[in-house]
Parts: sequence; structure tokens; C-alpha cells
Amino acid sequence: MNIMIMKNYKTLSKIAAQIVSERVRMKTHLVLGLATGSTPLGMYRELVSLSRKGIVDFRGVTTFNLDEYYPISKEDPHSYYKYMLTNFWGPAGIPPVNVNMPDSEAADTIQACRDYEQKIARAGGMDLIVLGIGRNGHIGFNEPNDYLTADTHLTRLTEETIAANSRFFARPEDVPRMAITMGIGTIMKAREVLLLVAGSSKADIIKKTLTGGVRTEIPASLLQVHPQVTVLLEKAAARYLYPDKYAIPQNMEERDE
Ligand code: GLP
Repeated sequence: MNIMIMKNYKTLSKIAAQIVSERVRMKTHLVLGLATGSTPLGMYRELVSLSRKGIVDFRGVTTFNLDEYYPISKEDPHSYYKYMLTNFWGPAGIPPVNVNMPDSEAADTIQACRDYEQKIARAGGMDLIVLGIGRNGHIGFNEPNDYLTADTHLTRLTEETIAANSRFFARPEDVPRMAITMGIGTIMKAREVLLLVAGSSKADIIKKTLTGGVRTEIPASLLQVHPQVTVLLEKAAARYLYPDKYAIPQNMEERDE
């Protein structure tokens, strides 16, 4: 695991965008897994700006999003589909045929999940997946549990996640209770993982994720066994990882733009 401490959110977003755009420059037809949430917003802004300057070209890239609420209309302003269209796919000029999202309107969710897995496989698997982390250690919507599901599946969200998501909705009863998410196996099959962690509210969970054993009650801890992971940590999120905030341990690097 390559763990890098970022001075602030701006630096985290810039370095994340640099990593993604480097991979796109190396492979025009990159297959990219993507997350939603607040954390990657700065990275998306940077990537859009790099693409507008002609520094990176996303027209050959295929994207697969990690998760989507279920059921929800694509046109609903709260859908992850709308989030992606507005914040990245649209302004970055990714052709609509190249973007993929779990089907939040499917009547047959079992088939929809199977189709999603097959689409990823047919695309050759994901070269890189960008992840955020939930405060309870979820990745995608793989919630803490006694067991984790390998493939894309329909899942019930925990009360903690529903509460965290409620900040985006006018009324608590509007917050979706279910979602379709890539499974832990789907995520682990990506050839490279980029985990973005920002804010002091994630300090506790990222410590538990990176230290201590691999355990299903912290789904993100499974990343410890992935061979190619980079973790970009905003300094505020890294504060429990080392006792003296001015002494960065040798296996960690602090970056400032
Ligand atoms: C949601 C998403 C995750 C995301 C997480 C963290 O639950 N399903 O993919 O990583 O939120 O979100 P934030 O970055 O807003 O803290």
C-alpha cells in the first residue's frame, strides 16, 4: 500500500486528478471505476479542468460507477447518475455510450446486477477504481456485516449510512433505504485502487481500515490485501495514524502540490 498524506483537500484533489489523467494518457481506452460522495468532487473538478485545457482526453475512456440508490429515477436530482452527469461525464466529454451505472430502475435487480458484472468483464475489467470511504468503513455500499458479498448486488443501507446521506435530502423519509453496489470482489478485481480520504470525520475509520486485521465489519480493510492500492489522505484524516503530527512515518510521504 502506498499511503500519501496531503496537506489539504485541494492538494488531495490535484494529486488524485494527476494520477487518473496519467493513467488515461498511458492507456486511451482506460476502464475506470468511479465513486460519488463529497470526497471526489474536487478531483472531478480538476479532471474537467485538465480536459478543457487539452491535457487529458476522456473520449476513449469507459466508466463504471460503484453504486446507485435503488429504486431511483435517473432523472431524480439525487441520483448518482445525475451527480456523475453534472460533475464529470458531461463536462469531461465522456461519450454517453461509454458510461455505466447500476440500473436503478430495473424491475429484475438480480438480472441487472448480473448484467453489470458481465459488462465490466466484457470491457476487460477495471484498470483503476477510485474509491471514497463511508464513516462506518463501507466502500461502494458494501456495509459492515458478518459476511460480504463478492459480486454486484442489491443491498439494504445501514441506519448510519442513511443518516449520513440525509444531508442531501429535504426530508429524512426521502432518503433511499436500498442501493445496488459493486461487490467486494468486483472492487478487488480492479487492477489498481485509488482511495481518497478527506476530513477529520474519517480519521477514526481510516485508522481502523489501515491498521489491525482484515475484517468484514470494516469492509475497506479488505483493501489491505489488494496488490496495488494508493491511499491519498488529507492531513486532517490522518491524525490518528501517527502520534506526532509533525513526524510523518517513513512509509508515508507528505505532499504539497
Ligand atoms: C456514499 C457512497 C460511497 C462514498 C461514501 C463516502 O455512501 N456510496 O461510494 O465513498 O458515500 O462519501 P463522502 O465522500 O461524501 O464522505
